[in-house]
Amino acid sequence: MKRRTAILISGRGSNMAALIDAAKAADFPAEIVAVISNRADAPGLERAAGSGVPTIVIESKPFGKDRAGFEAMLQRALEEKNIELICLGGFMRLFTAEFVQRWYGKMLNIHPSLLPSFPGLDPHGQALAAGVKISGATVHFVIPETDAGPIVMQGAVQVADDDTAETLSQRILGIEHRIYPEALRLLAGGKIRLEGDLSRISDVADRNGTLISPAAS
Ligand code: GAR
Repeated sequence: MKRRTAILISGRGSNMAALIDAAKAADFPAEIVAVISNRADAPGLERAAGSGVPTIVIESKPFGKDRAGFEAMLQRALEEKNIELICLGGFMRLFTAEFVQRWYGKMLNIHPSLLPSFPGLDPHGQALAAGVKISGATVHFVIPETDAGPIVMQGAVQVADDDTAETLSQRILGIEHRIYPEALRLLAGGKIRLEGDLSRISDVADRNGTLISPAAS
């Protein structure tokens, strides 16, 4: 049985689209049964509907600081759809510890840096300011702390001296679209074990990949 999965978005939804595409494969262990946005104007909503995935809007703005009130509505929508797993795809709203606890081990997020480096806002700008030569993206389980939690999968790219936040974010986005579906495949396929604060994966195919940056000319 495919695991019933919801994607939560606030904006463009390119990771959402990558997940929806991947989940079309017959052997993919998750099915995307709902896209939920906390903003009615999220461009990703139209994209989801175009792919035939039901969309739900629960505006968070009217709730202001009442996070629990918003989450009660969200939880109801998730229960109505019998959701088992959640993927956050650019979902720009913080959760209460209670909501996170309820979904612990079942809710993934993606962040465009090699966590624990550069959590929070403007990770690409942070990476450029730090002068790192390699950056990337991380899929992790959600915990109450923002952009933290057991790391499921990471992908890396080289950072060039002439990169801007824009060029770096484009390159990292390409990696995000590859690793998020793979991470969901692992989770839905029961291949991830949580050991304390760490996520462990069975079936690692290849451990010899290296990335050196800058590459010697
Ligand atoms: C993605 O780059 C994602 O990694 C980032 O928001 C973007 C959403 O794009 N998430 C965070 O920064 C979480 N802290 P998308 O709507 O096209 O998937």
